[in-house]
Amino acid sequence: MRVGVILAAAGRGERMGHRIPKQFLELAGVPVYLHSLRVFEDHPRVEEIVLAVPPGWETRVLAQVRDLGLFKVKEVVCGGDTRQASVERALRALSAGIDTVLVHDAARPLISRELVSRVLQALERYGAVLCAVPVRDTVKLVREGRVERTVPREGLWLAQTPQGARREWLEEAYRLAGQRMFTDEAALLEAAGFEVRVVRGENTNLKITYPEDFRMAEIYLRLDKPGKV
Ligand code: CTP
Ligand code: MG
Repeated sequence: MRVGVILAAAGRGERMGHRIPKQFLELAGVPVYLHSLRVFEDHPRVEEIVLAVPPGWETRVLAQVRDLGLFKVKEVVCGGDTRQASVERALRALSAGIDTVLVHDAARPLISRELVSRVLQALERYGAVLCAVPVRDTVKLVREGRVERTVPREGLWLAQTPQGARREWLEEAYRLAGQRMFTDEAALLEAAGFEVRVVRGENTNLKITYPEDFRMAEIYLRLDKPGKV
């Protein structure tokens, strides 16, 4: 496998409600996106990385990664209006030799090297992989403040990233998707008829969405790396 990583960092962070997109806010002294970027840079099986960033951020981000000596970053591309569009643009920027693609949300700074290894190991066997965790709470379908019903939790998992696939599968899935929108690559692959395998994610691999997630991420980082923060 020749592995390329797409770091999706082109969102606006509307639910976070900050002037600066959340992936560029400082978390434990380092911009959010750099936490996961470093894990990929340091992972021996990752060959190159392409970042998708919001319009206007390309030069700044490229300068920052070059300054830090993150040499696997091949290109910083301008993302699109949706995550799907951002990833599609980044996909085009990967070198021709890359045959396996991992996609990761820059808003998930807490991934571990072990999780990346697990996803890659599964990818080697199966062509499309997603990491996810089982739903722990009881799930309710709620409309206008009223419980419509309780959804059986059995078999429900929460999708995380990294997700990945053989490059040709992913490209085929994008071609077939056309104008239809999907919230993650796995959904795109499923719709294209590919079987997507699940590996165990990590409950600490949260996606920073709201301000309280940001604080939670900071706490996890302090607990894990007391010397660094
Ligand atoms: N993303 C992206 N391009 C977009 C939208 C999202 O690359 N047009 C990225 C985000 O930067 C993030 C990941 O996809 O790393 C998951 O998206 P989400 O958590 O929804 O982030 P935002 O879209 O930025 O947040 P919000 O939906 O609250 O605006
Ligand atoms: Mg979004």
